[in-house]
Amino acid sequence: MMPGLFITLEGGEGSGKSTQASLLKLWFSDLFPGREIVVTREPGGTDQAEEIREILVNGAADKLAVQTEALLMIAARTEHVLKVLKPALMREAIVICDRFSDSTLVYQGLAHGKDIELLRSIHRFCFADLSPDITFVLDVPPEQGLLRAETRTKKQNSESRFEQKGLSFHKSVRDGFIKLAKREPNRFVIVDARGTAEETDELVRKHILTWLQEQGCI
Ligand code: TMP
Repeated sequence: MMPGLFITLEGGEGSGKSTQASLLKLWFSDLFPGREIVVTREPGGTDQAEEIREILVNGAADKLAVQTEALLMIAARTEHVLKVLKPALMREAIVICDRFSDSTLVYQGLAHGKDIELLRSIHRFCFADLSPDITFVLDVPPEQGLLRAETRTKKQNSESRFEQKGLSFHKSVRDGFIKLAKREPNRFVIVDARGTAEETDELVRKHILTWLQEQGCI
């Protein structure tokens, strides 16, 4: 474990991760005044990783083979881990990351029936091991999530490549996250994210408080 606190937010399209990341930052700033808090995202989080993101999230749904997608996701992640995440954790920051390795295991692995142990070994090759302390899976039915994501995409005219992959793909993504979460119950927390952002935030904070108390941090 690194000296900082590493929290990741995972889930399907429109599950509200980025809103939760901002709300968590505000809450942590009150709870631990003066402590460094880093909010970041994947794919992205460094200039080079954001350039790779542009390739991944724009254009036709089928423009890349899933293997290419996986390698680009992990290439972007390697930049992010080595240049942002590990240094921040070594500075004892609280890091809140919108998606991480579990997204690759699910979107490029389980949802395509691919071997996730091979994906894990590419991750190990790239940056040894870095595992979140807590991972929240914000769970919404894909129909609801896609509707939310579509509304946002129309407003911002942005990034819809993965949304176009169809409902049955997104159902497999949801099943994939639940499967991963059940395999590692000590790290994962599945949160019902069907309600408002405030309702989801309350559920997330409740779990973190319990976790911090268990770790003797508060
Ligand atoms: P975002 O919409 O949560 O910012 O993520 C962009 C898209 O990238 C989203 O549809 C999920 C996808 N993605 C993967 O397929 N694999 C990954 O490893 C990551 C980080 C994201």
